[in-house]
Amino acid sequence: MSTNQRARDLDREHIFHSWSAQATLDPLVIAGAEGSRFWDDRGTTYLDFSSQLVNVNIGHQHPKLVAAIKAQADTLCTVAPIHANEATSEAARLIAELAPGDLDMVFFTNGGAEATENAIRMARHHTGRHKVLTTYRSYHGATAAAITMTGDPRRWGSEPGTPGMVKFWGPYTYRSAFHATDDAEECTRALAHLADVIMVEGAHHIAAIVLETVVGTNGILVPPDGYLQGVRDLCDRHGIVMIADEVMAGFGRCGEWFAVDRWGVTPDLICFAKGVNSGYIPLGGVVISRRIAATFAERAYPGGMTYSGHPLACASAVASIGIYKEEGIVEHARHLGTDIVGPALADMAERHPSVGEVRGLGVFWAVELVRDRETREPLVPYNAAGADNQPMLDLAAACKQRGLWPFTHFNRLHVVPPLTITDDDMRTGLAIIDEALTVADRHTTA
Ligand SMILES: Cc1ncc(COP(=O)(O)O)c(C=O)c1O
Repeated sequence: MSTNQRARDLDREHIFHSWSAQATLDPLVIAGAEGSRFWDDRGTTYLDFSSQLVNVNIGHQHPKLVAAIKAQADTLCTVAPIHANEATSEAARLIAELAPGDLDMVFFTNGGAEATENAIRMARHHTGRHKVLTTYRSYHGATAAAITMTGDPRRWGSEPGTPGMVKFWGPYTYRSAFHATDDAEECTRALAHLADVIMVEGAHHIAAIVLETVVGTNGILVPPDGYLQGVRDLCDRHGIVMIADEVMAGFGRCGEWFAVDRWGVTPDLICFAKGVNSGYIPLGGVVISRRIAATFAERAYPGGMTYSGHPLACASAVASIGIYKEEGIVEHARHLGTDIVGPALADMAERHPSVGEVRGLGVFWAVELVRDRETREPLVPYNAAGADNQPMLDLAAACKQRGLWPFTHFNRLHVVPPLTITDDDMRTGLAIIDEALTVADRHTTA
């Protein structure tokens, strides 16, 4: 039996996978990866247009990142978080330097959910209030509070969840909850709606508003200009902590170090994970403003983890940030979005009747698919499963047959390869998507 067959068999016998009915799974056995590609045990190579879970920003097996991890392993693998060490201190310094305003302390976690959990814990203790406002179209992680903060259907299985979480509608001009017809109108109305929610929930009970700066899995929703500043103003007016969840949008994905930089807005807390070290070793965290950090100067912060500030993970973050700078990865991401992906998707939108809207920035794009461009009926229903979801399954299969591993969610295909992808590979991938969209076109009714 080949080792890969054994990996598959043992997986089916012993691995309990996330978000899945276990008996239905037939996972691909990944044999190797490099740059923007990975290959399976049967010799099929895929262009990775998913960056796995939108986290391998720097590409697979970057030799300098691998070397830095090996070097740190030789030096110091692990220490308790109470101790200081070079890798963790340096990672925090670099992240603080990149973060806007006075966000210059870092609480390290093992991933994104622990980052959002701890961010709201900080906000609640800082304000002495308990409510947390989040949007319906959001994902913030799968631990108890993070999944209750989450707006998408992944929350349903964990309800009733933790108390004090309130949902509101964020801006999404294409499917406006406010009957807006353009971005400016959507911005004004979405802010008025949020102001109303704050009023009826009682501003003095609200600890935090948590937003994905650019909503990721739930649609790559780029906020209209002025929205984040408007949220900042509402937070300032009511003493509410503004938390930007940049677990997916941060670290170059939007063509900025942090997505908030695009709008010049400084939140009080920023959650990060994924792109900070491309997931080579689990790592996340919260960047904290001086004002909030001061709350815990004399009073103990009531939270922590054995692996907070793990030296191996932090050394990989230090190396990763160095690589971003040396290789101009943030600038490359912006170039890819502006010069290649944006124009190519706009062109596809003109030619394919199934494309309702394309939107995004940097290397963070969505192709939203519809049955009918006039009515904007989605190609598949919200949260579709089984036969209802067949058109999206067919589209994904068409991509895979052509050697591209896609990221699909509901009625959308996301264009989210590593930020280090070459111009040529990006064009190759987009050409595959162009061809595959003919499969989606067959399901249109107009
Ligand atoms: C915006 C956002 N926040 C939080 C999380 C949770 O991160 P993790 O899966 O590392 O816990 C994710 C994961 O996809 C995310 O996209």
